[in-house]
Amino acid sequence: MPTPSPATWSAIILAAGEGTRMKSSRPKVLHEIAGRALVSWVVQTALDAGASRCLVVVGHARDDVERELSTRFGKRVEMVLQPEQRGTGDAVRCAMEADDTVEGRVLVLYGDCPLIPVPLLQDLVDRSQQAGADLGLVTATMTDPTGYGRIVRSRAGDVTRIVEDRDCSEDERSIQEVNPGLYAMRADFLREAIAQLTPDNAQGQLYLTDVVELAANRGKVVDLEGDMADLTGINDQRDLAAAASTRRRRTAEELARSGVAVADLDTLYVDADCEIEPGATLGANVHLRGHCLVRAGAHVDVGCVLTDVVVERDAKVLPYTVAVDSTIGEGAQVGPFSHLRPHSNLGPRSKVGNFSETKKTTLGPGSKVNHLSYVGDGVIGEGVNIGAGTIFCNYDGEQKHTTVIEDGAFIGSDTQLIAPVTIRKGAYVASGTTVTRDVPEGALAVSRSKQENKEGYASRLRARLHRRKKP
Ligand code: UD1
Ligand code: CA
Repeated sequence: MPTPSPATWSAIILAAGEGTRMKSSRPKVLHEIAGRALVSWVVQTALDAGASRCLVVVGHARDDVERELSTRFGKRVEMVLQPEQRGTGDAVRCAMEADDTVEGRVLVLYGDCPLIPVPLLQDLVDRSQQAGADLGLVTATMTDPTGYGRIVRSRAGDVTRIVEDRDCSEDERSIQEVNPGLYAMRADFLREAIAQLTPDNAQGQLYLTDVVELAANRGKVVDLEGDMADLTGINDQRDLAAAASTRRRRTAEELARSGVAVADLDTLYVDADCEIEPGATLGANVHLRGHCLVRAGAHVDVGCVLTDVVVERDAKVLPYTVAVDSTIGEGAQVGPFSHLRPHSNLGPRSKVGNFSETKKTTLGPGSKVNHLSYVGDGVIGEGVNIGAGTIFCNYDGEQKHTTVIEDGAFIGSDTQLIAPVTIRKGAYVASGTTVTRDVPEGALAVSRSKQENKEGYASRLRARLHRRKKP
């Protein structure tokens, strides 16, 4: 058999378990950190570290797990079924049996360990490869090791085996060096070793950790030290929240280091798939979710929550704006307290102000919706001014209809535009008008009853009310 090149290695990621300790209907590995499922974090790390193949073992809620992985990674991951969850050793057996072409070095990771640093994985693969060891693993120390497998060493200091928490003797329980669950093994050793596993333990399962003793019996096991802050496994909601906090803080620091002006490292929430250009400014308590792009010179101020939003150069998103699936054009200004619903496309230098809501609308360059308006299903040209309290009546109870406002039109305050309707270029709609028909270019539309002033009426009324009050 030709010796595989050091660069070629496969990853097996275990994601078949239910995760009952999460007490959630969602399978554990689909819980998210920074908008990305736990298992996807692990797969991404393996791919970034250079895995040539990535096999994910699925079982519990497999359809959901497979959907997440194939949506995100397409053909870069291969799924393997573990029909019954009989332990981590059994899961690896399923992967190796499903695919007897796996050769060279195999990296095994757990799908519930989301913060593994890429260089640590590369180191693990390289060092076990160079030593020609059957097995290399990472260990770490913890003040409270409860729940983790403990690393047992010989007098000489070599790793001899791993004992699971539930199978520990009194003495073993006090060992603070634990198994975070990262292994690099020779494929042929692994194939042989998993065939020898027995469910002879407290949980009656096939433990992957038992292969460590088999490797140690044949030769030296390579071990690397890792930092538990990067390697916690997620077993319950507390673990998840703690790992999410760690990731959140690191992202904030990375952004600040890259040249983003971060107002508060402690309260910036940016999902993993967002891109923030150096030179952008992010205020305190800002949440950027999904796939946001914030360009240089843009400013997202305090308390904004943006999901899948593009903020172009020099745009300003003022405090407490909520926006979803929208684009804020170059030099545009939104907020404070604006709500952009999906497909709001705001042109350069346009403005959407306080308590205005937009949906499925394009707002042309320099156009303004500054106060208290609802603008839905709109096609708005350049230089249009929409006055306070304007409502696009886009829904007739059955269907949605479009309102078109052409360049330079002026819509007075407190108007209703009953769609479908078009306001042509440069037209004027007087305040308080209900527009039901198209308005021609350059015309004025007005629909109000004529004002009447009754001279002296208010004074007479007040005098009468006054007299009544006297005893
Ligand atoms: C495992 C290790 C333990 C280590 C800890 C690190 C074993 C026996 N124990 O324990 O030494 O300290 O991780 O976090 O390996 N899975 C399957 N199929 C199964 C069982 C599990 O695919 O039949 C998957 C799970 O989805 C999970 C991963 O394997 O992603 C780990 O399983 P889990 O039950 O969380 O193992 P731990 O008890 O944490
Ligand atoms: Ca675990």
